[in-house]
Amino acid sequence: MNLVVVSNRVSRGKPNEPMTGGLAAALLPIVEKSGAIWVGSSGRVRDGNQKEPFAEIEALGAGALAMLDLPAAHYGGYYEGFANSALWPALHSRADLIRASQEDYLSYREVNAFMARALLRFRKADAAFWIQDYHFLALGAELRDLGVSEPIGFFLHTPWPARSVIGGVPHHRELIEAMLAYDLIGFQTEEDCENFLSYAQSDLGLVVHDGVIISRHGRTRAAVFPIGIDPQQFAQLATKASTHPDVSRLRRSLNGEKLAIGVDRLDYSKGLINRIKAFDQMWTLHPSLARTVSLLQIATPSRGAIEAYGNLQSEVAKLVSDVNGMHGEVDWTPIRYLNKGYGQAVLAGLYRTAQVGVVTPLQDGMNLVAKEYVAAQNPVDPGVLVLSKFAGAANELDTALLVNPHDIDGMARTIAIALSMPLTERRMRWEAMMAKLRGHTIQQWFADFAEALRECQLDRNELAPVMPEPALWPLRSATTGGARYH
Ligand code: F6P
Repeated sequence: MNLVVVSNRVSRGKPNEPMTGGLAAALLPIVEKSGAIWVGSSGRVRDGNQKEPFAEIEALGAGALAMLDLPAAHYGGYYEGFANSALWPALHSRADLIRASQEDYLSYREVNAFMARALLRFRKADAAFWIQDYHFLALGAELRDLGVSEPIGFFLHTPWPARSVIGGVPHHRELIEAMLAYDLIGFQTEEDCENFLSYAQSDLGLVVHDGVIISRHGRTRAAVFPIGIDPQQFAQLATKASTHPDVSRLRRSLNGEKLAIGVDRLDYSKGLINRIKAFDQMWTLHPSLARTVSLLQIATPSRGAIEAYGNLQSEVAKLVSDVNGMHGEVDWTPIRYLNKGYGQAVLAGLYRTAQVGVVTPLQDGMNLVAKEYVAAQNPVDPGVLVLSKFAGAANELDTALLVNPHDIDGMARTIAIALSMPLTERRMRWEAMMAKLRGHTIQQWFADFAEALRECQLDRNELAPVMPEPALWPLRSATTGGARYH
């Protein structure tokens, strides 16, 4: 299979380059090893009528990276507009933050159509397309309109919310109906998959049977593929990183003090405000913990042109400053707050230095920081992961200390427990989590998805002649339930 992987954000594979988010980091080793072509945005825009999309193509391990300049007239409406001001808040169950204009929606559709035209250039014999994330919900349908009949899969890295929440997105019916042009739609968790199937059945009135939706496009399988990491490679990075200057300086600066670490994009879904309030509460309730533990919070600026993100940046900065003002001493800063991004080669070492990893999103598709923190630990003296039960990772990493990120007192108590957890318990919990990471690696995730996509195509070819006429749809069936791979 000649795989064409498509995502908005790509990575050039430089370990020292800061990475924004989990998707780019996850796809990188897959492209490097499988020989796939990875197509995404160059981050630049281009004027003009874009009949011939401009692509910069470079080698990436055994694969290749093609970066496209997206159309200037539509980029803002697509990225800051519909993708990140309508879809992102809805997918993270923040219907109150949905903002979308008709122009934004049209720009989103234009960029999806533009990407579809650009992809024709990368079509080869035995090709299959694998589209990533909410930026390209309609890309499959655009490809089909251009006559592409090869298998097209889609994977959603974010959660998929309840029907009532996704129903708050303008044009939700049209968009979700367009998604059914995909042969296979992958989700992070059972709950996401169930929510999607329930929408297809109840809102679109379609037949859903055993995880397969029947629509005018044919059959679409919805299934669960929890994304993983390469734990072995990450552990090696962490060992190597111990001599990195940033990591050595951090260690020296601690002077025997313990460290908790949080690493997030500055995004309202990450629960930064509640996390900082929990530390505030912990130092208030346990004054003996002042000076004995500090928090290193890396909050990488993200989507700054969007009002909700600008507001969050100010709110977090003010809260950090208040907490430092309240609990700090002339020679001790409780929260080290950094507004920049780091490459994985440094992050791995920072994770290994911290006795506690705090990953407490209000809502998250998977959260690969949780998995990377675990993989980076020293097996003989591992740290403790404090993990939100609303991160997809909580389904697998159930021996982390699971917290409700809305319960600030509960989080404060749990962080204090993590800090004093005996070595035997830390090791037991860590070993159980490592076993899960080793069982569900990123390579396995890719292999499972590719295999399921191949099966979908076989099914489609076999069943095509017996499909009912479109005029007979929609029909209803009582059965939902996505297949689970893993
Ligand atoms: O699924 C979420 C995601 O695609 C991740 O890669 C990352 O968390 C984020 O969104 C990236 O966002 P952006 O490309 O807008 O910085």
